[in-house]
Order: sequence, then structure tokens, then C-alpha cells
Amino acid sequence: MGSKLSSTLVSTAVITVSATFCIYLIRKKKRENRIPTEWKKIGNAKRLYIFPLKSGHYIEIDAAECTEVGFRLLKSANCPLQLRDRSFVVYGENDGQIRSGRAVPSLVRIEISVHDENHIALDAPQMRTLYVRIPEKNENNTKIVSVWSGETIETIDCGDEAARWLSHHIVQKDSGYRLGYHDALVRRNLVRHQERMKFYEYMTDAATGLFSDVSSVLIVNQASYNDYHQKVPTANVTPLNFRPNIVVYGPDIKPYDEDNWKWLKIGENVILKNVKECTRCVFTTVDPETGKRNQDKEPLSTLTKYRLSRSPEDEPIMGIHLEVKKAGIIKTDDPVYIG
Ligand SMILES: *[C@@H]1O[C@H](CO)[C@@H](O)[C@H](O)[C@H]1NC(C)=O
Repeated sequence: MGSKLSSTLVSTAVITVSATFCIYLIRKKKRENRIPTEWKKIGNAKRLYIFPLKSGHYIEIDAAECTEVGFRLLKSANCPLQLRDRSFVVYGENDGQIRSGRAVPSLVRIEISVHDENHIALDAPQMRTLYVRIPEKNENNTKIVSVWSGETIETIDCGDEAARWLSHHIVQKDSGYRLGYHDALVRRNLVRHQERMKFYEYMTDAATGLFSDVSSVLIVNQASYNDYHQKVPTANVTPLNFRPNIVVYGPDIKPYDEDNWKWLKIGENVILKNVKECTRCVFTTVDPETGKRNQDKEPLSTLTKYRLSRSPEDEPIMGIHLEVKKAGIIKTDDPVYIG
């Protein structure tokens, strides 16, 4: 009887302690998810980029609307179409797999720009400009494409002319590759499909972009790039090898400070949360202008020596992935605060 009573007491105590601990953890997490009220200025948004095509050529911009799924162009008389970051993708006609610059470096030479309110222009060296209508989803033009991890994404196919143009540019053939479009109406199921994401406490599907690898916004700290560059001054690597949306610069920012930035405010409105370090793949070794692979495998070979992630990915880091907590306009030189 006595031992039964004491074992009941022990179990009650264990349950109470674990429940209290759980409540503590939940509260801690809630607190960490709360937008800070105090901010400290660290620098400015020095450069802004948008990449309408996944792995395609960049466009440098002086302002963007930072939406939940990433940057889009501001509407103006010169820009009647609000092209979104990574809203187009190249996929294999036969395998339905999306292609990135890892496998097809010549994608970086493809430029997608605004032609009019419902057409984009496709350009590449030695190719004639092709105007492509932004497709509207209908019963015949959707295609489920797959990402390397097994995740699938619905895309809207841009038609045969765009497919022929892309195939000519990539393999000098009439077919093989097609152009897909994302209308930004559904979010991805990335975390469920990528075991490696579980290492990062704050990485959820709320952080995902359209066809970007991980998140809607990628930031590179200019000081971190400079530190890398000092180690290998002859390597032909620029911040654009890392394909950032925003390059942050401040005279007092130290290399790799971004590892400890939890929250960022840019300008007076946009609020971002750091959800994950950006682990880098072989695509960073592709020259963003020429599409040629770096002979010395820079920047990966040097970064691997001193900036390896402790995550199971075992890849070097440059940049941070962010979730957009509060959308708004970002302009070049806007102040950047941490909280
Ligand atoms: C889809 O394809 C069917 C069969 O070819 C055709 O009758 C229909 O008009 C198409 N729908 C659209 C929206 O193009």
C-alpha cells in the first residue's frame, strides 16, 4: 500500500515537472517568435537583386516589394508587370524534374525581363528575343514537377515556343526542356520532404519562396564576402556567385555576424526572421555572367576549409535564409536593423 502510494506520488511529481518544462519550452518558443520592439541599426541594404528564373540571370533593382514569398518588382509606367523572384523554372520535358544551375550552368545566361503587362521577354547570347505570355492556369497546362528531394510542385507550362527556345539555348535541339511558371497561390511542402531541414528550429514552410531552394529571401553580409575574398583575392568570385536578394553592408559589421542576427528590420516596415544558415552547393562555382565553372572550385574549396556547417548537410555556409514576417517595400540604401 505504502509503496503504491509513493509510486503514485513519484509519477505525479514526474508528470508535473515534465508538464511545467513543456509549458516553459512553449513559452520560450513563443517569446522567440515575437517580433522585437527594440532595434539597433547595423548598416544598409547596399544591393538588391531579383532572379525571375530559377538559376537564371539576375536583375539589379533599386526597390522591390518584399512579399511573403519573396521580392517582386514595383509597378510603374516602365514596369507594368510585377515579376516575382524565382517565379519561372526550367524542367525536363521527359522526366518532369526541375533543372538548376548545378546541372545546367548555361541557365545563368538566360534573362527574363518585363515586356508589357502580360508578356515577359526571354533573352540569351546568340538567341533572338522571345516574348512569352504569362500563362493562366487551365485544365491543360498544369504540370507537376519534382525537386531533387522528392518534393513536387505544381507549375503552369508556358507553351511550346518557350520550350523550343529554351531547348535551343541549352542543348541546341528543338525539344528537351520546358518553361514553368508559379502563380504564387500555393506554398510548398519543403520541410516535410527534406529531412535536413529538421536541424533548424525556425525553418517552416512559412519561410518558403516560389522555386527558390529554401526561403523567400536570402541575405549576404558584405563583410563575410570580403573576408572570404581576402583569403583568395585572385578567385573570380563576386557576391553574385551566392545569388542574394539583399547584400547588407555596414562599416561596423564583422564577417559572419549574420550567424547571430535573429531578426532584421529593413527600412521602416519589412521584418524578417533568420531561419537558417545558407549551406552552399556547386552552383556557387558557376560564374554568374558567363556560366563557366570555376577551375579551382572556388568559392567552395576555400569556404569548406573554415566555414563548414555543423548541420548534417556538411556543406560550407555563406548567407542566411529569412522568413518574411512583415511585408513591405525595400529600397537600396534602406537602413538595416537587428532585433
Ligand atoms: C483543353 O484541351 C481540350 C482537348 O484538346 C480542349 O477541347 C480545350 O478547349 C482545352 N482547354 C483550354 C482552356 O485550352
